[in-house]
Amino acid sequence: MAPQERVRVGVIGCGAGQFHLEGYAQEPRGTVVALAGLDSDRCRELATQYDIPHTYGDYRELLAHPDLDAVSVVVPNHLHLPVTLAALEAGKHVLVEKPLARNAAEGEEMVDAARRADRVLAIAFNRRHRHDMELVHQHARAGGFGRIYYVKAFWMRRAGIPGLGTWFTNKEQAGGGPLIDLGVHVLDMALWVMGNPRVLTVSAATYAELGPRGKGNWAGARFKVTEEARYEVEDLATAFLRTEDGATLQLEVAWAAYTGATDEFGLTLMGSEGGAEIHVKDYALTDTLRTFGDFEGVPTECRPRLQKTHGHAGVIHKFVASILDGAPVSPSGEEGLDRVRLIDAIYRSADLKREVTIGE
Ligand SMILES: NC(=O)c1ccc[n+]([C@@H]2O[C@H](COP(=O)([O-])OP(=O)(O)OC[C@H]3O[C@@H](n4cnc5c(N)ncnc54)[C@H](O)[C@@H]3O)[C@@H](O)[C@H]2O)c1
Repeated sequence: MAPQERVRVGVIGCGAGQFHLEGYAQEPRGTVVALAGLDSDRCRELATQYDIPHTYGDYRELLAHPDLDAVSVVVPNHLHLPVTLAALEAGKHVLVEKPLARNAAEGEEMVDAARRADRVLAIAFNRRHRHDMELVHQHARAGGFGRIYYVKAFWMRRAGIPGLGTWFTNKEQAGGGPLIDLGVHVLDMALWVMGNPRVLTVSAATYAELGPRGKGNWAGARFKVTEEARYEVEDLATAFLRTEDGATLQLEVAWAAYTGATDEFGLTLMGSEGGAEIHVKDYALTDTLRTFGDFEGVPTECRPRLQKTHGHAGVIHKFVASILDGAPVSPSGEEGLDRVRLIDAIYRSADLKREVTIGE
């Protein structure tokens, strides 16, 4: 039998689901044949825009489609587990949005189920496929920075709560606030660049100063603020992590805080032979990376000329390659689970107001 040349995909979710549609549109070996979402007008609009033949409401209807190999799961966080389990049971490969799940217990169920079903489980850590991140990762893994001993990772917004009163600010549905929403991206980027070291301890604090007072909603948000908009999660989190090789990682994330940052994220990395700083303001794709070294004993600073990339297209390319060629996938469900375990530990440390040991 000739090897299968194209993966037939269903996308579940019509919000950030659009990023997946854009990504698959750039993937020569993947085709989206079905789209599901409860918001039927938006779903039909996207189906027309991306030329998708089948649309459904509930995800179970999409999973019953007879001709699908894989799905993208792009639904609110509390649905990542049930939708992924149902998709795996239906024999589909799964690309799930970040965070993998609301907590590690749910994430473990997903990773175990994928293993049992012998299906690919990948996670959309799309920020890894920025050109600045790819370069820093490549240089770090080739040893160019020497021994990396300190990394600062941040994502700070002045007024960027995605939707006050929506599932994002509901603890039960989201699992947390900016830490699980934005922090998971920069935590992943930092650990990926560091070579996925084992984290031993975490000391953290969380705050909810603006959100509960109805302040800090994102002016450009897709969601309308409701009258009784409840805010049940943190609006700022800070954490200090120690790895088994003696390196440390400082994390700072906020949806809303009195800061000069508009919507800014990045990494500062210090190694024994060089350093780098990625600072992304308002989702810029170029002129975001500086590297630091020595030239004949004189400190240098260089600004690599970056290309614009599409993060989801990069993740989707690896997902499809893993399905068709059997290549190991990264970012994988296991990496997603590792990050959620750390997020659990960060929330635990903040609750207990002390350092915690991972796995304690
Ligand atoms: N990687 C990124 O850059 C990025 C950006 C934004 C959101 N996300 C992630 O994507 C996920 C979704 O976030 P969002 O902003 O799109 O939320 P959203 O609320 O805008 O959209 C959620 C979608 O899920 C659909 N849905 C809900 N229940 C369903 C069901 N039973 N069957 C079928 N569809 C159902 C809704 O109809 C809607 O289309 C979250 O996990 C979020 O963390 C990732």
